[in-house]
Amino acid sequence: MRLRKLASLEVSSIGMGSAGTFDVHKEEDIAVRRQIMDQCLTKGVTFIDTSPMYGRAEEVLGDTIDGRQDKFQLATKVWCSGKETGRAQIAQSFKLLKTNYIHVLQIHNLVDWETHLPYLEQLKAEGRIGLIGITYGYPDMFPEMMKIMKTGRVNTIQISYNVKDRAVQEKVLPLAEELGIGVIVMRPTGKGSLATGLKGQPDLTPLKEYGIETWGQAALAWLLADSRVSVPIPATTKPSRIIENALPGEIPVLPQELREYIEKETERCS
Ligand SMILES: NC(=O)c1ccc[n+]([C@@H]2O[C@H](COP(=O)([O-])OP(=O)(O)OC[C@H]3O[C@@H](n4cnc5c(N)ncnc54)[C@H](OP(=O)(O)O)[C@@H]3O)[C@@H](O)[C@H]2O)c1
Repeated sequence: MRLRKLASLEVSSIGMGSAGTFDVHKEEDIAVRRQIMDQCLTKGVTFIDTSPMYGRAEEVLGDTIDGRQDKFQLATKVWCSGKETGRAQIAQSFKLLKTNYIHVLQIHNLVDWETHLPYLEQLKAEGRIGLIGITYGYPDMFPEMMKIMKTGRVNTIQISYNVKDRAVQEKVLPLAEELGIGVIVMRPTGKGSLATGLKGQPDLTPLKEYGIETWGQAALAWLLADSRVSVPIPATTKPSRIIENALPGEIPVLPQELREYIEKETERCS
């Protein structure tokens, strides 16, 4: 697995998200998540994103990597309003993830960011967290997000970006590049729709020499061919998917003409 820079941090070039996929209760479902985390370690998929918003995800993640937290780079979020509520939620994240150190602490969907930011700065100064980040929900939040980026107080942004969702290309990604802000990519497979929701069958022929065998891999390789992207974080419920999704992080970055091919082929099959 190649590594990439997320601001000052080195992370796996493919990570994993946990929204909707780690909110499980049954022992057999938790056992599958343990297999997913085993597979992540085997393939070097070590950057893992979660949030208190995702039900039991932080707890299940903490349990399934218990004793090997130091092998991963963990990113979570604060998602609530109010100073004391925020501090309590962050304390709970450390507890559920069973760690004394969180690599990236993000303000989820910019919720009450002015209140949380000073505390995140304090945690960073104390060496409890590595980087401070923000995430957004919808493009109407771009102006506020860019305003926060320009304060110089955040190290990472988490944005929605994929071959069919390119709104960030116009202003957000150029600003991140100018300011040296790391870019975590949510919805990298369009919630799977880029791989399984196309009407037609994309032609993989020109991508095969790179080892790409599925359109999900093509979608992730398309992202990694944008040097402004630090780490896409596809989520999954399947251990085998980790092997599939890791591949674009193992092969050389695609040349521009193949990136354009993926765009055209996705369009043709949509
Ligand atoms: N505002 C925010 O902060 C925010 C918002 C959205 C997301 N996020 C973060 O970003 C992460 C990723 O976003 P997401 O989960 O919405 O979108 P995603 O990763 O694009 O989609 C996940 C879905 O896609 C499927 N999938 C993954 N890889 C695939 C492949 N190669 N081929 C076919 N299907 C594939 C998975 O199904 P299988 O189970 O079948 O693999 C899963 O249902 C989240 O988990 C979360 O950590 C943050």
